[in-house]
Amino acid sequence: MAEVARVLYERDQVRRRVAELGRAIATDLAGREPVLVTVLKGGAMFLADLMRAVDLPVEIHLMAISRYGGAEESLGRVQILLDVDADLAGRDVLLIEDIVDTGLTSRYLLSALRARGAASVELCTLLDKVARRIVPVHPRYVGFECPDAFLVGYGLDFQERYRNVPDILQVTDLPALRADPDLLRAHLPSAA
Ligand code: IMP
Ligand code: MG
Repeated sequence: MAEVARVLYERDQVRRRVAELGRAIATDLAGREPVLVTVLKGGAMFLADLMRAVDLPVEIHLMAISRYGGAEESLGRVQILLDVDADLAGRDVLLIEDIVDTGLTSRYLLSALRARGAASVELCTLLDKVARRIVPVHPRYVGFECPDAFLVGYGLDFQERYRNVPDILQVTDLPALRADPDLLRAHLPSAA
């Protein structure tokens, strides 16, 4: 059967990289109590692993957004459905993203967070798809600079599928997956 996807970053590689990011964050913010803010749903798995790797007292908050279609989309404006319910004034805020693609979403969220009087607001993304950038966004922490391809697994979905796959896969035949969104199920590495 033709290949639909292949493993790009396997689970142990992700685990090691997340541990490194956690240590870097703990070193940079030593003595502080950072606020980790993640965007649902894609960032949930990364946050869960990263927070255990940051040896500091941290606070976590979740945001949920929905993207507008049409002309609004190109401006990157998003509707905030679930917001941070804490005062961020004077805090060190880290926006935790699964992936930065065009940069539109992160740019919007960073400016929304910066408007709240935080002492610092930085971006930490597991994956950085630099080739696709439309607006300049420069994450302070990057797990992997990834190729310009569609990725699934470790929180990333295709039509709400595959978020629970422990590895990060690169889809090599997107038209085939569009034709049958469940096609990848037969090709997944085992969860064990
Ligand atoms: P941006 O505003 O274009 O940077 O969009 C970032 C969002 O698009 C991410 O938070 C993901 O939800 C989604 N996204 C971008 N690239 C991928 C991908 O390769 N796989 C799955 N979702 C993606
Ligand atoms: Mg998605």
